[in-house]
Amino acid sequence: MGRSRCALRYPRAASLPSMNPVTITSASGRLALREFAPSDAPALLRIYGDPQVVQHMSFEPRTLEQVEATIAAVTAAAEQDPRREFSLAVVRQDDGELVGFARLAIDTQHPGQNSGQIGFALRADQWGRGIGGETVGLLLALGFNTLGLYRIWGARSPENDVSRRVMDKAGMVEEGRIRGHIMVRGAYRDSVVHSILAPEWEQARTAR
Ligand SMILES: CC(C)(COP(=O)(O)OP(=O)(O)OC[C@H]1O[C@@H](n2cnc3c(N)ncnc32)[C@H](O)[C@@H]1OP(=O)(O)O)[C@@H](O)C(=O)NCCC(=O)NCCS
Repeated sequence: MGRSRCALRYPRAASLPSMNPVTITSASGRLALREFAPSDAPALLRIYGDPQVVQHMSFEPRTLEQVEATIAAVTAAAEQDPRREFSLAVVRQDDGELVGFARLAIDTQHPGQNSGQIGFALRADQWGRGIGGETVGLLLALGFNTLGLYRIWGARSPENDVSRRVMDKAGMVEEGRIRGHIMVRGAYRDSVVHSILAPEWEQARTAR
């Protein structure tokens, strides 16, 4: 019964909207998500080139050439129709400064899926001000409100307590551990998965 009600209420989109460029602003007036441009490479290097930022992520600190390639890849993915990947720059609304990288990638492995995975990273000098939580809120709004997803999930390193806290505060439930999920720095690493479903998102918003 519950399953068929959900299926009627949260149908999988027949086709995803072609969305490019995307700009999302936060209600707080503090942050925005926007498309990357080639000129963002030095600012992105301050994030993805920093060993402290990538400590719990799945890759080594990147060089300028590598972040230029990242921007080229996310720009090409943004041009796909239908669009499956939304890798966006986190910028401050007041001065436009780029302070983070936010990603929502729609799952494509199974035709019955209506879900997407998020990822996020901020420049280290911006940590501890609630920007991470606000960024996740914007990604969830994109996924649920704009794309009509039913499930959004994120995977973190078991040691990444801050990421756990950010997803927890966003209402994402810790659902379990994927063992031996990815090879990182020469060894297979587990990941802990957190998720939130569309009805939980709606309920949390109406409760506020
Ligand atoms: C994860 C990240 C985006 C969080 O951003 P942030 O803006 O610093 O997070 P917030 O300010 O929203 O705060 C997150 C919560 O974690 C808490 N926190 C901060 N440092 C912590 C720590 N070392 N251990 C546990 N909790 C911590 C904060 O107190 C806050 O909780 P509170 O609101 O109850 O006080 C940021 O730390 C980052 O970019 N890390 C590197 C990249 C990364 O790990 N990305 C996630 C991959 S899954």
